[in-house]
Amino acid sequence: MDKEVEIMLNHLDVQAHGVRYVGIYGIGGSGKTTLAKTLFNQLSVHFDGCSFLAQIRESSKHGLEHLQRRLKRDLLPKDSRAISDTDVGIKVLKESCRDKKVLIVLDDVDKKEQIESLAGSSTWYSSGSRIIITTRDISVLAVEQEQSKDGSGKKSIELLEMKEMNFEQALQLFSRHAFKMDYPPIEFLDLAKGAISVIGRLPLALEVIGSHLCGKHKEAWEDNRSMLVRIPRDNIHETLLISYEALKFRTKEIFLDIACLPTNINLKNAIYMWESCGFRPEIGMNELISKSIIKVMDGNELWMHDHLRDLGREIICMENITDFGKHSRLWDRKEAWNILEGKEATNLNLKRLAILDLSGSDINEQGWSKMEVRTT
Ligand SMILES: Nc1ncnc2c1ncn2[C@@H]1O[C@H](COP(=O)(O)OP(=O)(O)OP(=O)(O)O)[C@@H](O)[C@H]1O
Ligand SMILES: [Mg+2]
Repeated sequence: MDKEVEIMLNHLDVQAHGVRYVGIYGIGGSGKTTLAKTLFNQLSVHFDGCSFLAQIRESSKHGLEHLQRRLKRDLLPKDSRAISDTDVGIKVLKESCRDKKVLIVLDDVDKKEQIESLAGSSTWYSSGSRIIITTRDISVLAVEQEQSKDGSGKKSIELLEMKEMNFEQALQLFSRHAFKMDYPPIEFLDLAKGAISVIGRLPLALEVIGSHLCGKHKEAWEDNRSMLVRIPRDNIHETLLISYEALKFRTKEIFLDIACLPTNINLKNAIYMWESCGFRPEIGMNELISKSIIKVMDGNELWMHDHLRDLGREIICMENITDFGKHSRLWDRKEAWNILEGKEATNLNLKRLAILDLSGSDINEQGWSKMEVRTT
């Protein structure tokens, strides 16, 4: 990562005039967000205002206004103007930030309009401002010479591809999780090298499989190798599934619940929810943390990588591929409305924590009465 940090610091050059956009692209789990966070933490002191908007692909599903509000709150904490829709948001941001030298990270962008609505043009921010964008899809960064949505200025985005780790880096990351050391113990060296050759060098996979193998005896390593060898290198979900399958029953249930929660939920709130269902989550949470399946960020935010979240949702979808109503959990607001309002299957099989955000819903009493909440 040191090399990538150095390249990015050169691209960003905080002393230089003008507004700069820098894009980091690469496959999921390759370390784009990790790099952007490192840069953000390192560079924040040089700016008048900073904002890190995480997981935009997921969090913009219900509109961009709330992200614009978050940006305004971070950059202009005293500004009381309301942002009622995206166009108002664009107007407020471009009018109010002109004199501010800002550092903004737009993490995990998947549509050009997200960039346009949050950092649309170099004229919105003062000279010296830096905007870092991460994405899996390089085409969203292809804005060179394009006119911005508000017609006021052009921008170009310098690009960095997040490539796979080299072998030494991969061995070190894997060893940190599998052995809690920077290098494998000598009797495990060949097994560790063999494991990496089948897992590949994607940081997420190294982290999760390394944690899964931690403390296991050599025979278990051999068994895992024979499982991993059958999985195509680019099928990250199949690789992560090995770790899921090995979890205890109750931990699997917690994992599936978390996969359906909104991103970065407050840890205490999640624990209250489980406890109110008569469930004691500590053991399961600790197992998920030790397996690198979830992380607690800044001491109070529950975080799961989107590949793991997608895997969890896929497992739930596979419970019944034709009838959403038979799923143990629902997370899509629209699907949940349809089911609870009786537009879809009526035979519900929902478990706890099934639906978490039904704001705006006008579900009637009948709908709620159909929902049988089990506290396994
Ligand atoms: N250089 C690194 N050293 C140690 N761990 C790393 C490194 N890069 C990434 N990781 C770990 O790998 C996991 C995936 O990284 P990250 O979330 O940054 O990937 P990403 O490219 O942003 O993925 P996505 O496109 O899905 O958002 C994280 O848990 C992170 O801690
Ligand atoms: Mg990311």
